[in-house]
Amino acid sequence: MSNFTFRNPVKIIFGKDTISQLSKNIPAGAKVLVTYGGGSIFKNGVYDQVVAALAGFEMIEFGGIEPNPTFETLMKAVELGRAEKIDFILSVGGGSVLDGTKFISAAIPFEGGNEWENIVLGKSRYKTATPFGAVLTLPATGSEMNSGGVISRKETHEKYGMGSPLLYPQFSILDPTTTYSLPKVQIANGLADAFTHVMEQYLTYPVNALIQDKFAEGVLKTLIEVAPKVMHDQTNYEDMSNFMWAATVALNGWISLGVPSDWATHQIGHELTALHGIDHARTLAVVLPHLMRYKMDNKKAKMIQYAKEVWALNGTDDELVEAAIQKTTEFYESLGIPTKASAYGIGEETVQEIKKRFTDRKVKYGEKSDIDAAATEAILRMSI
Ligand code: NZQ
Ligand code: ZN
Repeated sequence: MSNFTFRNPVKIIFGKDTISQLSKNIPAGAKVLVTYGGGSIFKNGVYDQVVAALAGFEMIEFGGIEPNPTFETLMKAVELGRAEKIDFILSVGGGSVLDGTKFISAAIPFEGGNEWENIVLGKSRYKTATPFGAVLTLPATGSEMNSGGVISRKETHEKYGMGSPLLYPQFSILDPTTTYSLPKVQIANGLADAFTHVMEQYLTYPVNALIQDKFAEGVLKTLIEVAPKVMHDQTNYEDMSNFMWAATVALNGWISLGVPSDWATHQIGHELTALHGIDHARTLAVVLPHLMRYKMDNKKAKMIQYAKEVWALNGTDDELVEAAIQKTTEFYESLGIPTKASAYGIGEETVQEIKKRFTDRKVKYGEKSDIDAAATEAILRMSI
């Protein structure tokens, strides 16, 4: 295990009827900007609960943050927040609203201009951010307990991760009952995204980090166990609670301490979303099984461990490696999520566009920094 330093300051408030605790967790007298997406919060009663809990606070609203939040939309919220001199931001919705809120939080006090380059692409080490909290309504991204976000740009069809230690939420409220209204496709996406987050931090090479490995295996097994249940009935409180907490710990930093991580699947996936608008989780499913096959020599030891520990399989090493790929593919497919990019009409033209982008950016992803433009081309070709 490598050296590590760890601090995660996010206060998690988990459970039924916890939205009412908002007022205790926002500084008294704060002027609050409430951010939200396309309107799901009006249909499922979450907006009403938030408004009731914020009685006594001055509140302004910014809605319309889209899935894969765009710089163009978010800059309008930044202008509003600056003009209104807000003190606190409350994100109400899924990962996109929260990621967008992280950008807004960094951009409002930023005086250096060019927020795309400075904040999204990270050219500036900004020193301050507007404090924010979250009411999360979709288990998937882990954004509620990490300091990262992913922002898209309509104009250029780009999508980039950003982050800063300043961008941890002050608190995140996770009430599993808010997820009962999710469309099935978003439940499937959430399961697939959280599953892939663990895989990106676990399926690398062994460094004898027992806690991290066993924890990662526990999160994967939990997701595998609850998946068919929540796909069947998303109003079972216990199952949705387990799903929601699993998605949080999949990307809150615990399982990545002192271990290598991959993230190539996510980076390639972001390009597929940026170019074709495919849901984030769905892009991961068309990359990871092929990346596993492409990197099966490098990842062999962990793939064997994964087959044995997560899927309880036995066999020769080669059989277990093959089974690891097969089980991963079947997991995505069991959620109704295709594992071939060709299912979305993606072909050679997109492969070449991504290859060109990665060549220009000189990327080297993966735990061994060996997933470059040529490797990406090979992986994507296996998917079309
Ligand atoms: O916009 P509204 O109307 O709220 O509807 C949303 C949206 O259409 C809907 N929804 C959310 N909660 C609901 C609901 N509908 C009914 N009932 C509810 N309770 O679901 C749709 C998708 O929402 P979105 O926020 O886009 O989904 P998700 O949470 O999966 O977030 C995806 C974004 O997060 C980024 C992705 O790249 C993508 O942009 N990620 C962020 C990460 C992070 N910050 O650490 C890591 C991830 O790997 C991921 O990249
Ligand atoms: Zn993800």
